[in-house]
Amino acid sequence: MTARPRIVVTRKLPAACEAEAVKRFDAVLNPTDTPLTPEQLQDALRQADGLLPTVTDKLTAEVLAAEPRRARIIANFGVGFNNIDIAAAKARGFTVTNTPDVLTDDTADIAITLLLMTARRAAEGDRHVRQRQWTGWRPTHMLGARVTGKTLGLIGFGRIARAVARRAHHGFGMRVLYHDPFPPKPEDAAALGAEPRESMEAVLAEADFVSLHCPATPETRHLINATRLRQMQRHGFLINTARGDVVDEAALVAALKDRTIAGAGLDVYEREPVVSPELLTLENVALLPHLGSATLETRVAMGLRALENLTLFFAGQPVRDRVV
Ligand code: DGY
Repeated sequence: MTARPRIVVTRKLPAACEAEAVKRFDAVLNPTDTPLTPEQLQDALRQADGLLPTVTDKLTAEVLAAEPRRARIIANFGVGFNNIDIAAAKARGFTVTNTPDVLTDDTADIAITLLLMTARRAAEGDRHVRQRQWTGWRPTHMLGARVTGKTLGLIGFGRIARAVARRAHHGFGMRVLYHDPFPPKPEDAAALGAEPRESMEAVLAEADFVSLHCPATPETRHLINATRLRQMQRHGFLINTARGDVVDEAALVAALKDRTIAGAGLDVYEREPVVSPELLTLENVALLPHLGSATLETRVAMGLRALENLTLFFAGQPVRDRVV
């Protein structure tokens, strides 16, 4: 009997995924869920045939340079892969995969959750009740902004953005605008009632709600900066479920404080898990701890998808979700 491929799973996974991992592979799990240090990640690359890391594992060029190396595949648990230096991985001949599709709907749900939370002041209202400040119903208490029929601007129009568009347009009767350097087929956008705009600035200027759906790349770092925040409407809200460093967090704090924009809903942060302390003091921002894909169903599906990529790779077949 030939030895089963050895894989290192860097974080605790849902039980169904861990059971499947040990069934298929000689799998090293992480029951304590303690994040691996760069040295431990390097050891994993030296000792295992494959790595199953996730978005919190920084696979820098230095980590990937571990020698002598045994691992040939990195099957990331996550659709985003900005935790991996892709150029270095490619140069070193790693196969890298991700987990698209399975988290689209849940992440879109979180974008809509944040949109509603900010517009209707839900986080603020929750704090108000818990802090026993509520004195009773009154006509002028905690008035928010209507969502139904408003304009949603999408920056990026990939799978998750389209799922947000579907919910916003068909669920809330919103007008949907988008800008994407790689535009979809016009009929796909039309089915979602989504209108293209030539520039991101045009979307920012017209939308009541702006939702970010672009990947984190050197080009998109601080895409939303002080200038772009000023291009939004004063009553506008910014929603970020993409990646933290797409937004200049210091500029956002300033814009929220001086009411350049009305509010923001954030699921991701520039220096996760650190959140700019000033954001914690502002009432006009709703903050979630990177929950986009956090349902049991989706996290199981993500784990199984990463395992499927590993299984195909070790069987010598094309992987399903190749990044490089
Ligand atoms: C991803 O998959 O990229 C998310 O941010 C974590 O679900």
